[in-house]
Amino acid sequence: MVITIDGPSGAGKSTVARLLAQRLGYTYLDTGAMYRAVGLAALRVGIDPGSQEAVSSILDGLRLELRPGQQGAAVFLNGEDVTNQIRTPEVSLAASKVSAHPQVRAYLTELQRQMGQKGGIVAEGRDTGTVVFPEAEAKFFITASDEERARRRWLELKQRGEEISYEEVLRQQRLRDKNDSCRRLAPLKPAPEAVIIDTTGLKIEEVLEQILRLIEEKIPSF
Ligand code: DC
Repeated sequence: MVITIDGPSGAGKSTVARLLAQRLGYTYLDTGAMYRAVGLAALRVGIDPGSQEAVSSILDGLRLELRPGQQGAAVFLNGEDVTNQIRTPEVSLAASKVSAHPQVRAYLTELQRQMGQKGGIVAEGRDTGTVVFPEAEAKFFITASDEERARRRWLELKQRGEEISYEEVLRQQRLRDKNDSCRRLAPLKPAPEAVIIDTTGLKIEEVLEQILRLIEEKIPSF
C-alpha cells in the first residue's frame, strides 16, 4: 500500500509521515529532502538554482540516496551524508527554486516511483498524491495557519542554533508557498480524493491517530 501526505511546509507533515511509517513498519519517503539535495548541489557548484539550463546540466552527475536512519531517512549526495546541510534557510530557498524546473521534477519523480515500486511506503511532499503516486490507496493533505507553521519552523531552526527572527521565517515561508503554489508544473494542491486535515492547535499524536483511524475506515482489511 502507498500512503501519500502532501501539504505546505511547517504543517507538521514530516513528523506525522515519519511516525506513521514507524507505526506501520513502512518506509518513509521524504520527497522534499530530494529537492533540497538538488538545491544544495546547485549551490555547491556555484550555479543559480533559478536557472533551468544550469540546474538541468548537473542532474546526470548526481548520485542521490535516501538511507533509513534514526530520524527518518539520511540523505546522501554523491556518497556524502548531507542530512543536516539540506535544512538551512538558504537551501530551503534553493530547493523551492529548483523544484520549478520540469527536468528536475521528471528526474526526481522517476526516482521516487522507483523507490515506491514495492509499496509499503508513506510518501511525503507537495505532489505525491497528485503526480508521483496518483494510484495511492490513501491520500492526505495536511495544512495549518501561516502563523502557526512559521512559528513551528522558527522553533525548529532556533533549536538547531540558526539565528533568524520569526518575522523573517514567516516572510521566507510566504515566498516559498507562493513559488510552490503558483508554479505551472505540479503546483501544491490537494488531490481531489485527499482527506484534508488542518493541524492548527492539534498535537502531532492527535493528527496521527486521526490518520490511522481514517486509513482503517477506508481500508477495512488494513
Ligand atoms: O518539504 P520541504 O520543505 O522539505 O520541501 C523543500 C522544497 O521542495 C519546497 O520548496 C517544495 C519542494 N517540493 C516539491 O516541489 N515537491 C515535492 N514533492 C516536495 C518538495
